[in-house]
Amino acid sequence: MTRVFSGIKPTGHLTLGNYLGAMRRWAEVDQHRSDALFCIVDLHALTVDHDPARVRRLSRQATTLLLASGLEPELCTVFLQSHVDEHTRLSYLLECVATDGEMRRMIQYKEKAARERLRGGSVRLSLLTYPVLMAADILAYGADEVPVGDDQVQHVELTRDLAVRFNQRYGHTFTVPRATRPEVAARVMNLQDPTSKMGKSDDSGPGIVYLLDEPDVVRKKVMRAVTDSGRDVEYDREGRPGVANLLDILAACTGGNPESLAAVYDSYGALKKDTAEAVVEVLRPVQTRHRELCAEPAYVEEVLRIGAEKARASARPTVDSAYRAIGLLPPV
Ligand code: TYM
Repeated sequence: MTRVFSGIKPTGHLTLGNYLGAMRRWAEVDQHRSDALFCIVDLHALTVDHDPARVRRLSRQATTLLLASGLEPELCTVFLQSHVDEHTRLSYLLECVATDGEMRRMIQYKEKAARERLRGGSVRLSLLTYPVLMAADILAYGADEVPVGDDQVQHVELTRDLAVRFNQRYGHTFTVPRATRPEVAARVMNLQDPTSKMGKSDDSGPGIVYLLDEPDVVRKKVMRAVTDSGRDVEYDREGRPGVANLLDILAACTGGNPESLAAVYDSYGALKKDTAEAVVEVLRPVQTRHRELCAEPAYVEEVLRIGAEKARASARPTVDSAYRAIGLLPPV
């Protein structure tokens, strides 16, 4: 059976980008057709300036939202990265295979390091080695597929390179995974700045639709989305990124195609109105289930306990064999 692994980082409130780019597919497709693991990657949240209480809160909230979005613990494994030591054990071995040049070439590292420096802060070493821990997340489970949005594809490519290199040097140990992306909305853009990704760690609230935004807040944000001075509705990602983003979101929410939807509209106002309603409808069941789950914290804890047990059992044999392959003696 195909093995699927993916993760989400508790560094901010989850967004429509996370949902359309990744989470929805995990729930609707991946958990039904594969042996799937979904991880709240809390160790990754420590790579930038963080508040411990906030990380705890956001880790719980991300877990609840993953379940609210339809992940079923009977079908897949949901767990916290820090509960399974195999991730950090394997990460060190992969650091001995990766190079510092590879790390410095990662787009997300360059962007985030620049942002930290701009804020006057220093760059944590863990931000540089982040992609190695991510590779360990994936390789520990022998994942065949990694369903992600566009921004994570470079990290999955690096994971492939590390797997191939390790296998060539030390003997076949890892499955070489591949990234899978959604057909539409692989990169949902910020509504106020449609040339940048809608990111949960960004500060620009009005441009980001959060999964827990009230319907009226969603409507307001979508109706105020930045477009351009044109009048016809056209799907042109380069030339008219704001309108293209709305069409992508509408298509992802309604199961349509952005190009054909463009032909249906003759004003930006009508496009925005329908997009806002489509987003509200997509978020409604997630928000309802989230409210119910918030009243059942013991259930959510239990999901994480069982998830960690299953994940440990699944990762340990691969990580142990990587330890032996690279030249370490088994414990006596
Ligand atoms: P993270 O937490 O930033 O995002 C989680 C998932 O959501 C997707 N995504 C988007 N998709 C479309 N449009 C957007 N605006 C948008 N924003 C986010 C991301 O592509 C991702 O699929 N490094 C990862 C977490 C991670 C991971 C892993 C993922 C750690 N280990 C192993 C897969 C496998 C991250 O920061 O995702």
